[in-house]
Amino acid sequence: MRIDILTLFPEMFTSFLDGSLIGAARAAGLLDVRVTNIRDFATGVHRQVDDRPFGGGPGMLLMPGPVVECVEAVQRQADLGHLVMLTPGGRRLDQSIVEELSRQDRLVLVCGRYEGFDERVKAILAPDELSIGDYVLSGGEVAAMVIVDAVSRLVPGVLGDEESARQDSFSGADRLVEGPQYTRPRQYRGLEVPEVLLSGDHRRIAAWRHEQAVDATRRRTLQATGS
Ligand SMILES: C[S@@+](CC[C@H](N)C(=O)[O-])C[C@H]1O[C@@H](n2cnc3c(N)ncnc32)[C@H](O)[C@@H]1O
Repeated sequence: MRIDILTLFPEMFTSFLDGSLIGAARAAGLLDVRVTNIRDFATGVHRQVDDRPFGGGPGMLLMPGPVVECVEAVQRQADLGHLVMLTPGGRRLDQSIVEELSRQDRLVLVCGRYEGFDERVKAILAPDELSIGDYVLSGGEVAAMVIVDAVSRLVPGVLGDEESARQDSFSGADRLVEGPQYTRPRQYRGLEVPEVLLSGDHRRIAAWRHEQAVDATRRRTLQATGS
């Protein structure tokens, strides 16, 4: 899968892309991630990318020119890809959207800054607007990293054991959260590992895990609704 990230702060991605699972997936040729600086598409001596909003108001907005020119230049390098604009007002990211994105051959992620994008960027490029939650970040870079990380896990070959992604929270048809897990030692500070997990009875273990996942999901829903 190819992922292009368009940002005013390319340096933020250096250690993120080189480390851990993503670094290994890139080295193995499973992921091709490229970062492009939006400022390279600004014109004028100062290579300005932002300006004051018409009608007044605080802060600066990204001017449409550098963003649109940057997206179009990157799209010309290969097939257009699925264009994502990171914005707090977009569709709220969840595992089903992550799965949808992981089925694309190419993603182009555009990170905003300052007070965000000029509306005409959306009119011209018709991006898929995505939010990583109902709060405001200073820029789209962290949101782009969240998407790259979550999507990469679902690219075939990236996880050593693909069963692990299938068993993760929010995965599978029932979208349950994962129940409790234990490793060694069997006893820690007086707390024991549940007997069923030591029984070697795989049917009982699977049934117990499912029960625990249903319970954890129900408790989470109750917390979210405040009931
Ligand atoms: C300070 S925010 C702009 C907020 C904007 N004025 C608003 O009220 O919706 C700057 C940039 O950060 C990114 N951003 C902030 N919060 C985000 C979120 N929850 N999800 C995705 N991107 C976000 C977007 O790219 C946005 O253009």
